[in-house]
Amino acid sequence: MKGVILAGGLGTRLRPLTSITNKHLLPVYDRPMIYYPIQTLVQAGIKDIMLVTGGNAAGDFLRLLGNGEEFGLKHINYTYQRREGGIAEALGLCRHFVGDDKVVVMLGDNILDGSIKKAVNDFQKQDSGAKIFLKTVDNPREYGVAEIKGQLVKNIVEKPKNPKSNYAVIGIYMYDSQVWDILKTLKPSGRGELEITDVNNAFIKKGQMTYEIIKGWWGDAGSSIEDLWVVNQFIGQRARNNK
Ligand code: DAU
Repeated sequence: MKGVILAGGLGTRLRPLTSITNKHLLPVYDRPMIYYPIQTLVQAGIKDIMLVTGGNAAGDFLRLLGNGEEFGLKHINYTYQRREGGIAEALGLCRHFVGDDKVVVMLGDNILDGSIKKAVNDFQKQDSGAKIFLKTVDNPREYGVAEIKGQLVKNIVEKPKNPKSNYAVIGIYMYDSQVWDILKTLKPSGRGELEITDVNNAFIKKGQMTYEIIKGWWGDAGSSIEDLWVVNQFIGQRARNNK
C-alpha cells in the first residue's frame, strides 16, 4: 500500500499567513503542520510516501523533510502541482508512483489524534473499491457530507447548503487502482477544481465504498484561521498532558 500526502494549493483562506509560504509549513504547536499527516501514515505502517506540493515555498519541503529520516523513512518522494486544480488533480500526479497498488491519500492539513492502522489493515483485506472515514461535526456545511444507510454510504455532497447529516468526510481516502480510470472521467466543478467528492461518489455508484466512523479527535487545520487556532490549542494541550 502506497501513501500520498497532498500539500499543494495556495491556502488563500489563511492569508496573510500563507502569502509567502505554504499552508502546510505553518506551525501547529511545536512543529510544522505537514509533520502530523506524515506521522499518521508512518504509524499506520505506510513507508512508501509521495508528497504533492505546489504554491508558495514548495522547495522548502525538501529542506525541511529531506529523505524523511526524522520519521524513520529511507526516502520521501516529491511531486509538484503547478496550479490549484483540486484535490483529485493533485492525486492524479501520483499515478506513476502508486502503480497498481492500493493507496491511502491524506490531506496535508488534516490532523488526527488516533491511529488509522486497523482501518488500513481492513482495507488491505477489502476485495476492491474504496474506504472513507466519517466524523460527526456541528458544522457540516464546511465539509463533504455523507448520507449513510446501514453499512452503505448513499452519497456525498461537497459543502452542502442543507446538509442531510452531521457526518463530515474527513481528509483520508483509501482507493484501489480503479481510481485512475475514475479520475479520467472527472470534469471541473463550479470552483474550477477536480473534486475528490466526485471520485468518492463514483465508488459509491459502483457499490464499492465502505466507511468507518472515527471516534477520536480530528481537526482540519487549513480551512480558516479559527480552525488553525482550535487545532493548535488541542495539540498544545495534548503535549502538556503528556509531559
Ligand atoms: O478536511 C476535510 C475536507 O477536505 C473534506 O470534508 C472535503 O470533502 C474536501 O473537499 C476538503 O475540503 P477543503 O475545503 O478543506 O479542501 P482544501 O481546498 O482546503 O484542500 C485540502 C488539502 O488538499 C490542502 O491541505 C491542500 C491540498 N490541495 C488542495 C487543492 C485545492 C492540493 O494539494 N491541491 C489542490 O489543488
